Amino acid sequence: MNILVFGKDGQLGRAFKAVFDPLLTSANLQVAYFGRAECDLSTKEEVLAQLNAAKPDLIINASAYTAVDKAETEMDLAFAVNVKAPELMARYATENGVTFLHYSTDYVFDGSKEGFYIESDARNPLSVYGKSKAAGEEAIEQVFATSSQGQFAIFRTSWVYGDGGNFIRTILRLAKEREELTVIHDQRGVPTSALWLAQISLDLALDAGCRLKQFSSGIYHAVPAGETTWHGLASFVVQAALDAGVELKAKPAAIKPILAMEYPRPAPRPMNSSMDSTKLRLALQSGSAKASNSYNELHNVPNVPSWDRMVQEYVSTLASKGLI
Ligand SMILES: NC(=O)c1ccc[n+]([C@@H]2O[C@H](COP(=O)([O-])OP(=O)(O)OC[C@H]3O[C@@H](n4cnc5c(N)ncnc54)[C@H](OP(=O)(O)O)[C@@H]3O)[C@@H](O)[C@H]2O)c1
Repeated sequence: MNILVFGKDGQLGRAFKAVFDPLLTSANLQVAYFGRAECDLSTKEEVLAQLNAAKPDLIINASAYTAVDKAETEMDLAFAVNVKAPELMARYATENGVTFLHYSTDYVFDGSKEGFYIESDARNPLSVYGKSKAAGEEAIEQVFATSSQGQFAIFRTSWVYGDGGNFIRTILRLAKEREELTVIHDQRGVPTSALWLAQISLDLALDAGCRLKQFSSGIYHAVPAGETTWHGLASFVVQAALDAGVELKAKPAAIKPILAMEYPRPAPRPMNSSMDSTKLRLALQSGSAKASNSYNELHNVPNVPSWDRMVQEYVSTLASKGLI
C-alpha cells in the first residue's frame, strides 16, 4: 500500500514517521514523506503533480499553516495551505477511491460553550487561522458529499505537543531561566500528544495487517480525556520535570495565573477549547471488536487516556534524553 504523508517536518508529521518506521519491515507499506522542500502546498500545480506521481492509497495531511498570529496578516497564504491544498487532496481521494486523513483545530469554535465541544457544534472561528481551518473542513466535506468514492476523517485536535516547538517545551525552557512565570488561567483545553494522535488516526484507518479499513467518514474530535488550563498545564509540567530530577529555577508555586486579557495577542483565542472524543472512542471500539492490532494491545486503545498521564510521560522522556 502506498501512503503519502504531507507535512513531514511538523510535530505530527514526525510522529507519523515514528509510528510507521517500526511497521515497515513487517507490513507491505511504502510511505512517502513530503515537506515544504518536496511540495509547496500553496502551489496548486505542485500538489497535483505530487499526488499524481505518488499514486497514494492513503493520504495523510499532517501539514498546515499554523502560525496563528501571523495568519492575521497572511490570510491568502493561510487559506491556500489550509483550504485549497486539502481540497485538492480530497478531490484526488474521491476521484481515485483513496482514504484521506486530515487534521483540524479547536480554533474552529468561538469558545463560548460551557461544556465540552462535540463534532456537531456550530463552527464560529474567531481568528483568520481558525477561519482557514474551518473553511478547510467545509471544503473537504463538500468534495466528499458529491462522491461515493473514497473516505475521509478530519481529526479535530488541540494543544499539540511532540517533536518540535510547543507550549510545554517553552514553559520548561522559561522555568530553567526564570524564577517566576505568568501563565493564562482562564482559557481551557486539552493537551494532545502528536504521537498518540498519529497512532489513533491509523487505528481508525488501518486493520491489524495494516490494510485500509472502512470507517464512517466525517469529523472526529481527537483529544485525550479531561481538560486543564494553560496555567494548570504549566504547573503540571514544571512539577513533572522536578519529579524527573530536572533542576528548574521556577517551582509550581512561582507560576502566577493571569487573565487572557492581560496578555493580548494579534489573533483572539477561544476561552474554551475542550472537546469530547466519545465519537472517536466509539468508532475505535467498533473497529477493534473486529480486529485488535498490536498498537491496541500496547497502548490500551480504544480507552482514551487522560491528558495528564501522557504529558507526564512526555516530560519524563524529554528529561531522560537531556532535552530540558
Ligand atoms: N500545534 C497545535 O497546537 C495544534 C492545535 C490544534 C490543531 N492542530 C493541527 O494539527 C495539525 C498538525 O499540527 P502540527 O503541530 O504538527 O503543526 P506544525 O508543527 O506547525 O507542522 C506543520 C507543517 O506544515 C508545513 N507547511 C506549512 N506551510 C507549508 C507549505 N506552504 N508547503 C508545505 N508545507 C507547509 C510546515 O513546514 P515547515 O516545517 O517548513 O514550516 C510544517 O512542517 C495541523 O493541521 C494543525 O492545524 C495543531
